[in-house]
Amino acid sequence: MSKTQLGILISGRGSNMQAIVKACLDSTINADTAVVIADNKQAKGLEKATTYNIHTEVVSPSEYSSKDAYEQALIDVLKQHHVDLVCLAGYMRVIHDILLEAFPNRILNIHPSLLPSFKGLQPQKQALDYGVKFSGCSVHIVNKEIDGGPILQQEVVPVYPDDTEELLSKRILEQEHILYPKAIQKFIYELSKHKKEEMS
Ligand code: GRF
Repeated sequence: MSKTQLGILISGRGSNMQAIVKACLDSTINADTAVVIADNKQAKGLEKATTYNIHTEVVSPSEYSSKDAYEQALIDVLKQHHVDLVCLAGYMRVIHDILLEAFPNRILNIHPSLLPSFKGLQPQKQALDYGVKFSGCSVHIVNKEIDGGPILQQEVVPVYPDDTEELLSKRILEQEHILYPKAIQKFIYELSKHKKEEMS
């Protein structure tokens, strides 16, 4: 069976993308990073990907007349690179039907909260404002509902009384870099196990 090909979508810093790329390179994840796609050319992650010799592309929504046309362009790039599994890594856009249908149950995301709590923007601030004593991060399958798909794995992080959004975000991010590669590898392993069972 050929190795899983990952397509990683980013909008910014790309530290989770970097953790995934590294895990593919040292075989912690049994996959190749086929392509990193940013939705804007300023995304800092693009440079990071290049330093690992990963192919990068910028597909910017401003260059397309509609959301569907933009997502079709994304699909075209992902298919050109034979991507089997799409990993959102700080990709700040809602995924629409056309992309979901092109990769059914094959789009993963990481969110910096213990879902289903604190969906959407600034989840670390939401956690602090609410006063929870623990937060964390979740890797889930992407579906139509924002941050709402089936949860694959989570990691818990303590929230301290004198925390700031910055401190909590940093503490969660450290765990994200461990959790996301681990969850991707487990997902790929389960998929290949199912495939083998189907074939036998
Ligand atoms: C991470 O906290 C991720 O969970 C969230 O956006 C942030 C992206 O950070 N979806 P980076 O671009 O991976 O460094």
